[in-house]
Amino acid sequence: MPELPRLVIATRNSHKTEEIRHILGSRFEILDVTDFPNLPEIQETGTTFLENARLKALGISRHIDGLVLADDSGLEVDALGGAPGVWSSSFGGEEGNHAKNNQRLITEMADQDQRSARFLCTLVLAKNGMEIANYHGKIEGEISRQPSGNGGFGYDPLFIPTGYSQTLADLGPSIKSHLSHRAKAIQSFVLNVSSGDLVNL
Ligand code: IMP
Repeated sequence: MPELPRLVIATRNSHKTEEIRHILGSRFEILDVTDFPNLPEIQETGTTFLENARLKALGISRHIDGLVLADDSGLEVDALGGAPGVWSSSFGGEEGNHAKNNQRLITEMADQDQRSARFLCTLVLAKNGMEIANYHGKIEGEISRQPSGNGGFGYDPLFIPTGYSQTLADLGPSIKSHLSHRAKAIQSFVLNVSSGDLVNL
């Protein structure tokens, strides 16, 4: 069997890596930065998903060979003026603490009837410290009043996609991997790779 091309995901979030692995199936050998000791910690100082995805993709691809794909993603809630947005992972006051993030979202949305929201994802593909392409995906939905479900990560227990009556955490990985912001951005990446537009990968 020919060797699969290697794709390194510029994240330490194992949930993101698993979702990307699930969606990309057998096209790539998927690793992430936890497979490489001594990589620098990239500070996400951008104010947009694209800026942060670029910082991660370029910052990591300067240090390892081959293709690097960075995901920056988050939740935009209309009643909160688009918050938490690029600050989704520290909304509750502690970076990466999903329980605190969800608790703050429940509290801030308690008296809101307008509950529309969306997840956004930007991917940046890079090699040798240079950007090759970027891809975008989103999923519309609403914020539920109660958390529900054990699947996924982050705000999944509070997000009901449009057209569904359950949260992403209830719907589980096989449905999420078709519907999600990340799935849509990855589908654009796959189309781009399959179309032959990306030469010399
Ligand atoms: P990032 O690692 O800086 O891109 O932060 C992403 C944050 O957005 C995560 O920590 C979650 O809070 C939220 N987020 C992004 N994608 C998802 C998802 O698929 N489900 C639930 N929360 C997500």
